[in-house]
Amino acid sequence: MQNDIQEVLISEEEIQSKIKELAAQLSVKYEGKNPLVICVLKGAFIFMADLVKAITVPLELDFMAVSSYGVSTKSSGVVKIIKDLDASVEGRDVLIVEDIIDSGLTLTHLIELLKNRNANSVCVVTLFDKPARRTVNLEADYTGFTLPDAFVVGYGLDYAEHYRNLPYIGILKPEIYTS
Ligand code: PRP
Ligand code: MN
Ligand code: MG
Repeated sequence: MQNDIQEVLISEEEIQSKIKELAAQLSVKYEGKNPLVICVLKGAFIFMADLVKAITVPLELDFMAVSSYGVSTKSSGVVKIIKDLDASVEGRDVLIVEDIIDSGLTLTHLIELLKNRNANSVCVVTLFDKPARRTVNLEADYTGFTLPDAFVVGYGLDYAEHYRNLPYIGILKPEIYTS
């Protein structure tokens, strides 16, 4: 275990087995639909890679980078596009892949944007959810794990850009973020 991690909350094995379950459901849902699967950078990159390897139907990928809060504060709800999609979503069945839903602001904005661009359908799969932190009414269509409101990192989730590469979800030692 990494030295800054207090406790492993969800193991690599648990994560991988949950991803196979989600991928099996998505493979049924998107049979014959050639979905456009969108990774929300950076956090979702590892989940995206493992998920699409386990989905068995043809699909296309695209990537988008958004900054939830821009230069303003968390409460403003401003979501800035840092990198837009390469492909058009018009008429497409879009699957948004997120690592975690917290306040729900990032996804609320993204879903609205893709609907305005005339996607045929917009669905969300998130590996993790922290419902206790929600400020808007939003639920993913597919959720892997519900997390407590703890300081978690790993499997794409960062603290100050670190720990994304951990293959598990860990709780960060308090002394790391309170100094
Ligand atoms: C994190 C996470 C989600 C978003 C969730 O991304 O990866 O995308 O916040 O928070 P919300 O529900 O309150 O909007 P972040 O903005 O930290 O960027 P990152 O993915 O590059 O770490
Ligand atoms: Mn993110
Ligand atoms: Mg982050």
